[in-house]
Amino acid sequence: MKTAIIGGSGLNKFPEINMIDEIFPDTPWGKPSAPIEIGILNKTEIIFLPRHGEDNRIAPHKINYKANIWALHEINVRNIISVSVVGGITKSMSPNNIIIPDQIIDYTYNRDHTFSDGDPMDVEHIDFSNPYSEILRKKLIDSARVKKLKIHPKGTYGITQGPRLETAAEILRLENDGCNIVGMTGMPEASLARELKINYACCCLVVNWAAGKSTLPITSEIIQRNLEGGLYNILLLINEFLLNAN
Ligand code: HPA
Repeated sequence: MKTAIIGGSGLNKFPEINMIDEIFPDTPWGKPSAPIEIGILNKTEIIFLPRHGEDNRIAPHKINYKANIWALHEINVRNIISVSVVGGITKSMSPNNIIIPDQIIDYTYNRDHTFSDGDPMDVEHIDFSNPYSEILRKKLIDSARVKKLKIHPKGTYGITQGPRLETAAEILRLENDGCNIVGMTGMPEASLARELKINYACCCLVVNWAAGKSTLPITSEIIQRNLEGGLYNILLLINEFLLNAN
């Protein structure tokens, strides 16, 4: 079973991968965000695609999610681990925490969000009650335990349109809706993967308090600092996960 990592902000390169090949296929929806790397990590074949592009310049609402997921499907990827940076809403989800979410609330709009529109796929109403693969989630949670990484094994990920951050009132609304964390790229990635029957799970790294949850302004310096610290743990988690990926 081939496994792909979709990297988010801060994970647009993966130098630890021993690269064997690189492909940049055309799909019916155009090119993916970047050339797809095929290589070896921890003795396991791994595919890597940075969703914001090689130089991190593709905004969340401009990502060609359909081309990305279709291209991975075409090379027989069966498992996707998505890495996303998020803002923390719930008190326990402070910067540097890792969450393996189990639920999604989608607040995005105007994104090309489905293959299931009659061309070429039939219209099908997929079951999305549980948006993530429980098998992949469990493997990620078990890998975190082995590595003694403190993670949250559950959480509701609210996905906003971006690229601007939210207002404090918007975050209050998300909190009242039951969201624990907020990010901009979790959808439609997860539902497109489900439409193509690809197992999909997400590792979220909190890089700031969501709007109104701290007295400090949300600055790129704060985000960058937490990103650098937290990515190390994400890489530990992915390395351990790959030992049991197949
Ligand atoms: N809001 C939305 N997306 C984000 C945030 C946030 O606070 N932090 C990182 N991605």
